[in-house]
Amino acid sequence: MEVRIKCSYIVRPTNPTYKGVYQLSEWDQIGVITHVPTIYFYKSSDEWVASSKSMIDILKESLSRVLIYFYPLAGRIRWKGGGRLELLCNGKGVKLIEAESYKCLCDFDDFDSQTAVFENLIPFVDYNKPIVELPLVLGQLTKFRCGGVCLGVKISHAVVDGQSALHFMAEWARLARGEPLKMAPYIDPYIYQNQYLPKILTRNIHIEFNPPQFLVGEESNVKEREKATSVSILHLTKVHVESLKKASNVKSECHIRRPYTRYEVISAHIWKCACKARKHVYEQPTYLDFSIDVRNRVHPPLPPKYLGNAILDMVASSKSGEIMTRPLRYTCARIREAIEKVNDEYIWSNIDFWKSLPDLSPFQDIHGLKSKEGPFYGNPNIGVISWLTLPIYGLDFGWGKEIYMGPGTHDSDGDCLILPGPMNDGSVKVAICLQVGHMDEFKKYFYEDIPT
Ligand code: COA
Repeated sequence: MEVRIKCSYIVRPTNPTYKGVYQLSEWDQIGVITHVPTIYFYKSSDEWVASSKSMIDILKESLSRVLIYFYPLAGRIRWKGGGRLELLCNGKGVKLIEAESYKCLCDFDDFDSQTAVFENLIPFVDYNKPIVELPLVLGQLTKFRCGGVCLGVKISHAVVDGQSALHFMAEWARLARGEPLKMAPYIDPYIYQNQYLPKILTRNIHIEFNPPQFLVGEESNVKEREKATSVSILHLTKVHVESLKKASNVKSECHIRRPYTRYEVISAHIWKCACKARKHVYEQPTYLDFSIDVRNRVHPPLPPKYLGNAILDMVASSKSGEIMTRPLRYTCARIREAIEKVNDEYIWSNIDFWKSLPDLSPFQDIHGLKSKEGPFYGNPNIGVISWLTLPIYGLDFGWGKEIYMGPGTHDSDGDCLILPGPMNDGSVKVAICLQVGHMDEFKKYFYEDIPT
């Protein structure tokens, strides 16, 4: 889609904020340390057409005020050796772009099938530049011919996780609407050090430190990384979700203490369909990688609205053959097993491991999602992230709630997100990126294998 950039602004906090260096936690520096994209579309409203204030001015002004509270996001990150990053709180500001397009919102028809065209509506970040030059937050407001707009946002995963990023977005919108801040973020970059308990568990129980599996017969994932990928957004109705739950939560099996959740049954189903579409052999080892929010899993829990990364990357493992041939509840149990391991001790022991490494770079995705280095959860593995309990909808900057919110573009094989349906009707969306050669089969199994 053709988009014309009209203007680009650097927005700094209105008032002076803390200046100094924060050491980032180890979790800030492993996995994806690039920016996470999201996109929001808004219909034109008569009220706004008549308004004397421009949307971009509202966004700029509220952004400069919200950055007083979220000042780490107005800073920059820089390398400090050993593949480690630190955060410079220097108020250099965030980037806001004003753009326009000759298209109308009605041209999108179904937003979910158009994710490829979102690329020009979300700010571009040039990772070839020195990392210290890159803003941690970038926004792009694009106005369409019909008066509708879209806001594409990218936020650095090296500084905040999904919960913290959404807190920032919600408070930005609140100030834009003319309301006061609801809750300031809790900023303590040393939180994981203050409570640091050394070497509680032996490291060999930490499956998440193992490199992802390779295809049987291969000694690396180089060939798999190079294959072309495509993205699909698939829908599960409430009935589909209930069928998956019913099939996994068989009453006669009383060994499970509580029924498998939506995340457990849906990710088990996705894992199974991916193994089938990729035509794995029975003995193929496979990992399912996922993020666990630890805010309430550590003791004491992290303070409310802690700003930073509080997610641990965990792994469930199995042989593909078992996943493909055994009932879905077998795969749910593998996932539940992995989730339940992550208690207070496990979390501190995980942090302890990352702290002990002299070099974190092999564990980082720094060059964007098509990186040839860093962790790769493509074939024969999969990474399924839950946004099911994240407050992703209802972002109102004063011109009404969005008519569509989406995860932006993801182009790495095996990258998968589970989102709640936007109507709060019990439906679920699955945004998945797979190799082009596997996508059609995946979609077929995804719907055919739902028990009736
Ligand atoms: N928030 C929390 N729990 C809710 C909820 C809400 N808004 N609404 C309902 N629940 C209840 C439900 O019973 C739900 O079960 P259901 O999905 O079958 O209806 C259950 O809590 C979910 O509990 P949860 O602890 O979230 O377990 P899970 O099995 O669904 O998910 C994880 C497991 C590991 C994915 C989840 O614990 C987690 O950490 N999610 C956060 C991921 C995250 O931060 N993603 C962004 C990464 S940047």
